[in-house]
Amino acid sequence: MLIGVLREVTATRYVLPLREGGSLPGLVEADDLGMYVVKFVGAGQGRKTLVAEVVAGELGRALGLPVPELVVAGIDPVIGRGEPDFEVQELLKASGGRNLGMDYLPGALAFDPLVYDVGPDLAGRVLWFDALIGNVDRTWRNPNMLVWNGAPFLIDHGASLIFHHNWPGAAKAAERRYDATDHVMAGAAPDLAGADADLRGRVTEELLRAVVDLVPEVWLADEPGFGSVAEVRDAYVDHLRARVAGTGWLPEVAR
Ligand SMILES: Nc1ncnc2c1ncn2[C@@H]1O[C@H](COP(=O)(O)OP(=O)(O)OP(=O)(O)O)[C@@H](O)[C@H]1O
Ligand SMILES: [Mg+2]
Repeated sequence: MLIGVLREVTATRYVLPLREGGSLPGLVEADDLGMYVVKFVGAGQGRKTLVAEVVAGELGRALGLPVPELVVAGIDPVIGRGEPDFEVQELLKASGGRNLGMDYLPGALAFDPLVYDVGPDLAGRVLWFDALIGNVDRTWRNPNMLVWNGAPFLIDHGASLIFHHNWPGAAKAAERRYDATDHVMAGAAPDLAGADADLRGRVTEELLRAVVDLVPEVWLADEPGFGSVAEVRDAYVDHLRARVAGTGWLPEVAR
């Protein structure tokens, strides 16, 4: 089972911006001497990206998928004082407090489906998981997978759970079919039926509650239309519970 909180680290040094990322994530060193890829709460994409990273990433990990460790990274904007780039300075100034860190995999290669065959089992699990969380960002153009020490890892779940951008439509969106046409695993003979048989029963309300509870409260506070943070957490659990209870969301390759 999951432990009840994400590990917390404090950033001690801003190392460099990762310019390939649209949200300008940064490579940061922390007080545990670890290096983390940090997604900033003050980035234009907003804090919901960070919520999606935690809920989807930790759900994936709980289902046995390879997701690098996620931490809460405390940022004091003064760490950007020596940073020459104005954009980075502004981002750090807007991101004091809790941010999302992912364990940095040094020397990792971008995943190329033409070079690396994950096999039908993992391909099916990744596709099933992305369909459940509605991840629109695992295409062959932008796989958001890395190969590190010879093994594949899933990164960047910020563009999943897109129902949270339109809460009134969230219940309806729970049934929406996932479009797998451009998914990076679509051509890897994914065993979606096998993944469904194994994973569906493991996505229990208890598990969903545990992963949603990992989201730091400040990323959920004052959400329009909700009376409390607890209500927002309930809404994530309710959506995902409803989605996993149905089958209409499974992409065509499953049928
Ligand atoms: N844990 C990690 N270890 C090593 N490199 C990483 C890690 N996480 C991200 N990267 C590198 O940083 C890049 C940007 O990260 P990520 O995809 O998470 O950011 P993003 O802003 O959401 O990107 P986009 O939306 O453009 O896909 C990745 O493509 C990868 O090259
Ligand atoms: Mg990315």
